[in-house]
Amino acid sequence: MDAMVVTGGCRLKGRVRASGAKNAALPIMAASILAEGPMRLKNVPDLMDIRTMARLLGQLGVRVEREESSGDLLLESRSERRSVAPYSIMRTMRAGICVLGPLVARRGFAEVSLPGGCAIGDRPVDLHLKGLRALGARLDIKHGYIVARCRRLRGTEMYLGGPFGSTVTGTANVLMAAVLAKGQTVIESAACEPEVQDLARLLVKMGADIQGIGSPRLVVEGVDGLGGAEHTIIPDRIEAGTLLMAGAATGGDVVVEGARWNDLFALVHVLRDAGAVVEHFDDTIRVRARGTLRSVDVTTLPFPGFPTDLQAQAMAMLTKADGISVITEKIYPDRFMHVAELGRMGARIRKEGNAAVVHGTRRLSGAPVMASDLRASAALVIAGLMAEGRTTISRIYHLDRGYERIERKLAALGATIRRVKEK
Ligand code: EPU
Repeated sequence: MDAMVVTGGCRLKGRVRASGAKNAALPIMAASILAEGPMRLKNVPDLMDIRTMARLLGQLGVRVEREESSGDLLLESRSERRSVAPYSIMRTMRAGICVLGPLVARRGFAEVSLPGGCAIGDRPVDLHLKGLRALGARLDIKHGYIVARCRRLRGTEMYLGGPFGSTVTGTANVLMAAVLAKGQTVIESAACEPEVQDLARLLVKMGADIQGIGSPRLVVEGVDGLGGAEHTIIPDRIEAGTLLMAGAATGGDVVVEGARWNDLFALVHVLRDAGAVVEHFDDTIRVRARGTLRSVDVTTLPFPGFPTDLQAQAMAMLTKADGISVITEKIYPDRFMHVAELGRMGARIRKEGNAAVVHGTRRLSGAPVMASDLRASAALVIAGLMAEGRTTISRIYHLDRGYERIERKLAALGATIRRVKEK
């Protein structure tokens, strides 16, 4: 297993490019099940989760290939005989659930393993099932699998909000089913995240009729079939946000290309409230910070609110801010695995229910720490860059699930960071 060794103390400076968005690419890859022709996807990041989705689709009769010359991902549904998404794959990547809607809509049958536990807390799929049932699918849970059957789905009105707001992959799943349903479907309380918008745009290119993209009310007129399409995946706002916070946290001057202002508005405001200067030109954002940041209160919310996927990184950034920051998690109330590890580096953080109170401290000191999940790992990297001495982060396979060669990008900004083999 690999570990990451970070030596803190340098101010990041320079320009980097964010890769394509993992969480846009994963459901979009699943949409290939719906297509009657080949799909070409550009700007798909080279990540463990993408390879896992390719493997899953392979089991479901979709041929997935990375074209060497262009780096594009080519997908084509070749056989509709196998519709089983096995536990062996689903337990490693929850986004595998995104094949359920397309399988039901296109093939009328699916057996998809329930994804299983997750370090960031409870992650039910009841809303996915609610939406698909509303469209007429018969769903049973048997031996840990969702077994789905239907004839042609039928359009209907549904409310997809849950106790923590809308659901991102739930909206993706139901939308991918509704596009082939007979008649009109109205999805109320749909997720508005840029990744869902990107999926909707791809579906429109394939021939779907979707109104209200980007709003909480999606109106879909079902069509009889969908063709292939070519699509460029949007840049990863979470990776871009992570790099911007790494810049601000180290008192640096960092320019991130592939950082869309409208996708990162909530973060921009947090950075500005913390005292950083943030500017943008087209899809490029520059952050500059000097000296100590100010404390800021941060509350995670569905888009356009502050993303839960940047909460851990924001907490790391604020460990050395002047004053007390309260970080409230409204999407995953238990997503605080990073608190104890940041504490091992000298951060003063007290967890209170779904919030964490961060007392800014003057120094962090490098320590051996352990990554618990993808975004917590990114937070530990940021903390390592802010700390005195050396931080060794083990179990970085979590980091590799969502960040494409992050050590190279940070090294290009002047960070002292390297990947080593763990003994
Ligand atoms: N929820 C329900 N019932 C459901 C589905 C969700 O109650 O059927 C709850 C969840 O427990 C949570 C809230 O609704 O409290 C939002 O969950 P959502 O369904 O939106 O999460 P997701 O679709 O499973 C995606 C991202 C996550 C990201 C969340 C929230 C992908 C592949 N994953 O998950 O990304 O944290 O949306 O924005 O898109 C990550 O990349 O590190 C990651 C975890």
